[in-house]
Order: sequence, then structure tokens, then C-alpha cells
Amino acid sequence: MNIQQNVSLKKYNTFGIDVKATQFVSINNEKDLLQLLKENTAPLFVISGGSNMLLTKAIDALVVHINTLGIVVKRFDDYALVTAKAGENWHEFVQFCIQENLGGLENLSLIPGCVGSAPIQNIGAYGVELKDCFVSCKAIHRETFQERLFVKEDCQFGYRNSIFKKEVKDQYIITEVTFKLTIKNHRLNTSYGAIEDQLAKKNVVTPTLKDVAQAVIAIRKSKLPDPNVLGNSGSFFKNPIIPKNQYSELLKKFPNAPHYPVSDNLVKVPAGWLIDQAGFKGYVYKNAGVHDRQALVLINKTGKASGAEIWELAKLIQKKIKSLYGIDLEAEVNVF
Ligand code: EPU
Repeated sequence: MNIQQNVSLKKYNTFGIDVKATQFVSINNEKDLLQLLKENTAPLFVISGGSNMLLTKAIDALVVHINTLGIVVKRFDDYALVTAKAGENWHEFVQFCIQENLGGLENLSLIPGCVGSAPIQNIGAYGVELKDCFVSCKAIHRETFQERLFVKEDCQFGYRNSIFKKEVKDQYIITEVTFKLTIKNHRLNTSYGAIEDQLAKKNVVTPTLKDVAQAVIAIRKSKLPDPNVLGNSGSFFKNPIIPKNQYSELLKKFPNAPHYPVSDNLVKVPAGWLIDQAGFKGYVYKNAGVHDRQALVLINKTGKASGAEIWELAKLIQKKIKSLYGIDLEAEVNVF
């Protein structure tokens, strides 16, 4: 274990924000993680893919970069249980599953980040959420060092939400995640409009797991910037959920406002649409900006943006959306 001092976190967060950590250590196995938890007295700051965070200041803590690797597949008659270590790159893990003809995660292709952080915000895209295939995860308690198994029911999964963002926030470090995947008769989810259009464009009539993954990858590439080229953290805000009567009021002013039903009384309105309508698409603020193909994505426009600049832009957008539509936008990324 090599604890380093005064390390730049630029390459450990997908916004590419250049802030320093007082101390930094990369962890490759769980034994080292336990030893670190037991011996260390400094405050800890856990980072894996760094794809859902905005760093607005130096991190005065020991940054623990989880880099544990390994995938185990157990095949049964009708399904497989697949366990991946927390540090596995999410997209590479999904592509491994597709290669092995294991179905369920293909719609979640190309999401940045690592396996261990995926349950925290119940990642989702194109009609599928992590919870749909999730069986359990193992996690170590930071103070008691006890390992705990969280089964699906324990996790309180919701829209970009879980127990790890609520009552046990910052208490556990997830070490591995197990998924239940199909090995035959895959239940492909192509109902999300753009996937069907994309498959039709490629003349695919009976899609395979790989076809669906490739359609998703093509759609994502057409809208979402590659963090290796243009720093970003995917959707910056959650899609707000509002009462139906508020949506009816919105429709009076904006008859084309899209929505997704949530329950009898609630609808979800796409934040990207609200921000786009407000005129922010392609907007530049200091070194930051709003992506010109998807208004929900804030970017490190020049590569030199500070986290504070991106946060100022986010607050500007929140204020404008509130004044225009009376809707509160909540950040989806974690701001530090
Ligand atoms: N829209 C606009 N202008 C924009 C962006 C979107 O009018 O600039 C409209 C679209 O035309 C569409 C609607 O808003 O009618 C929704 O847009 P889109 O399908 O692109 O999805 P989204 O709601 O913006 C969500 C997730 C994404 C996920 C996609 C696909 C959230 C916060 N975001 O985005 O997740 O990939 O659906 O399922 O739920 C992420 O979490 O980082 C992320 C990228």
C-alpha cells in the first residue's frame, strides 16, 4: 500500500477538475482495504470511477481509490449469477457479460464509472435500471470493519437513489456486486424509442444482446460527450418529479412539454428539455458550459474549469428554471 501526499485528482474524476488530495492511496485488494480502515485515522474520501462527482475544493482527507478487480460467473440451468469486484470498469464489465452471452445489462453500456458505485445511485438508461438485475452487494463498514451483505430489498432502490445515499450514506464501502443475468431467451428491452429507431437504421430485425448494446452505444455517442475528450459527469441534474396539476399548468404555457408518468399524481419532466427551452444549450460560462447536444450535461469546456465555476453555472441554471417554470432542479452528481 503506497500512501502518497498532495496528489492531483484530475485523472480520477471525469469532469477533469484539477484539485489536490492531502493523501491518496490506490487499493487493489480487500485485505489492504481492511488494513487501511483499521490503521488509518485521517478522514476518508472514497473514489472509484469518479464519474458522478463535482470537486469544488481541495480534498483534505485520505482519498481511497478502489481498484479491486475480478469477475466470477456461476451458471445455472436458466440463469447465471455474476459477481464483479468494485473496481471493475462498468462499461468493460457490461461488454464482458455480452461477450459471454449473459443478458440484462446491455442497455447500460457506455455508462462511465465502476461496478462498486453503480448501486449507490441505481444507475439507469434506456428503460433499464441496475436494480432490474441486482441480486446483492457486499460492503465493509468503515468503522466496525464488519462485512455486510445487502440484498435487493435492503437497498431501497429508487430513481437514482438507494440506501447508500440515505440512511447508510458514507458508512460502507461496497466491495463487490452480484447480478442475475439471463443465459437464454433474453428479455431485450428495446421499447425506449431511440433504440428501435437505431436498430431499424441498421436493418436489424431480430436483435442480439450485442445489437442492443451497439444501438445504445451509438445513441449515447451521438448525444453525450466522451469524458476523455470533454470533461463531464453525464446528467448533471435529476429529472424533476412534479404533481400532475403543476404539469397541467406547465402545458398551458408550453404545450409540447414532454413527460413520463410516475404515479397517479406525479409526472417526471425531462430536465434536459427544461434547460434547453430556457436557452442554455451550448451556453458558455467562464471555462464551463452546457453541452450543445444534450442540455442536461454540464461540461468542462476548456479543460481548465474549476469545480466552483461549474457549480456557479449549475446554480445559474437552477435559478432560471425556478423562475421560468417554478420547478426545483436537484443535482444528480455529488458536489464536494
Ligand atoms: N431533451 C431536449 N433537449 C435536450 C435534452 C433532452 O429537448 O437538450 C428532451 C429529449 O428530446 C427528450 C427528453 O428531453 O424528449 C429526454 O431526453 P433523453 O432521452 O436524452 O434523456 P434524459 O432524460 O435527458 C435520462 C438519464 C440519462 C440516460 C437517458 C437515457 C437522468 C437524469 N438522465 O436522460 O442518464 O442516459 O435518460 O435513458 O435520468 C446519467 O444519469 O448520467 C445519464 C446520462
